[in-house]
Amino acid sequence: MITLTNHDSKSEKGTSHAERGFSAAAEQKGAGPQKGGFGRRAFMRNLALGAGGSALLPARAALGAHDGQTGKGSISKGDAAILRFLAAAEILETDFWQQYTEFANVEGPYREALEVIEDENPEYIEQNTNDEFSHQEFLNAFLVKMRRDPVDLERFRTLPGSPVAPVQAPRLTNLMHLNVDTSWYLKYRSSGNPDFGDTFEQVVEIADRPAIPVKDQALYTEAQIQAIANTAAFHFPMIEQGGASLYDALSLKCNSLLALRIVTSIGGTEVAHFEIWHDVVGHIPAVNSGDGLVFPDLEANEETDPALVMPAPCKFISADLPLCSVIRPTSTALAGATAAVKFLTNTGLFLGQSQEFFDVLFHLAKEADKAGREQE
Ligand SMILES: [Fe+2]
Ligand SMILES: [Fe+2]
Repeated sequence: MITLTNHDSKSEKGTSHAERGFSAAAEQKGAGPQKGGFGRRAFMRNLALGAGGSALLPARAALGAHDGQTGKGSISKGDAAILRFLAAAEILETDFWQQYTEFANVEGPYREALEVIEDENPEYIEQNTNDEFSHQEFLNAFLVKMRRDPVDLERFRTLPGSPVAPVQAPRLTNLMHLNVDTSWYLKYRSSGNPDFGDTFEQVVEIADRPAIPVKDQALYTEAQIQAIANTAAFHFPMIEQGGASLYDALSLKCNSLLALRIVTSIGGTEVAHFEIWHDVVGHIPAVNSGDGLVFPDLEANEETDPALVMPAPCKFISADLPLCSVIRPTSTALAGATAAVKFLTNTGLFLGQSQEFFDVLFHLAKEADKAGREQE
């Protein structure tokens, strides 16, 4: 007899919320990732206004989709809620990746410490940032094309960035007091699966620590700046593995094949990000910051062997089935939109944000988690 997990439970979840898709910092000359060569602002405006003639073509004509439920140039309410929540998540993701990129692109001890971990780290960080820009822009543009409201979080761009950030601009997210969950590292080396109730220890206790410099970099000891870079190195895959679970969980709620295609295709990129960063973090040097943060030698312990970078086969669907290498968790309760918002909030990423910000974010999450094929 097969015992199913709570894969499709109706518990509420939340995620992030997004806005139109460009960070103030990125718009500053030379600060943003260089992509594509076309103006994002103009592109979005044209979509919103229907300029260019084709922006509001019916979905079937515009996209060539073989999806009987999108023939009127729109998508279901549930699919729109899913895509709106993901747009919000991507806007927030873009905001903090942009902050990392600004620091990584400036010569100095922090960039050098990132390069101690992986020579190509500055390039990887910028590429990841570019991908996040593309995700939020695409999702919002698609919503507009489907005659659904895009997400705009610009009114919440009120947080101060690091006082020594290369670009001084208000932010949506806070990288200066992070509680980085490092349990994912053991989770992906284990046959356990959170959807079956399994829990995992932290590899490193990272509580209320900055992942970017917060004072003149020359004032840090070598160990301190390496500890900050190591914190970032654990934060990158923490975010991306969460994104992989989130996209998987929400894909199961899509009504149309068109929405499903978008969610699974972007979700695949989150998995790609995760695995790159998973490999990279295995190269952190052991370091004691001297002020309370200790990174162990990952190679010294069989359980944290950096070579074990592929997702270990784990319990999936039913404990009496063979172990399977999969993304985990994927239940709504643990990987849905509300769960994602709660998780990110607990990491301190939104520290300093207003109650309205959280209200908006949890509302978007709730709507996304409510979506479901059977309800359409
Ligand atoms: Fe993304
Ligand atoms: Fe991502």
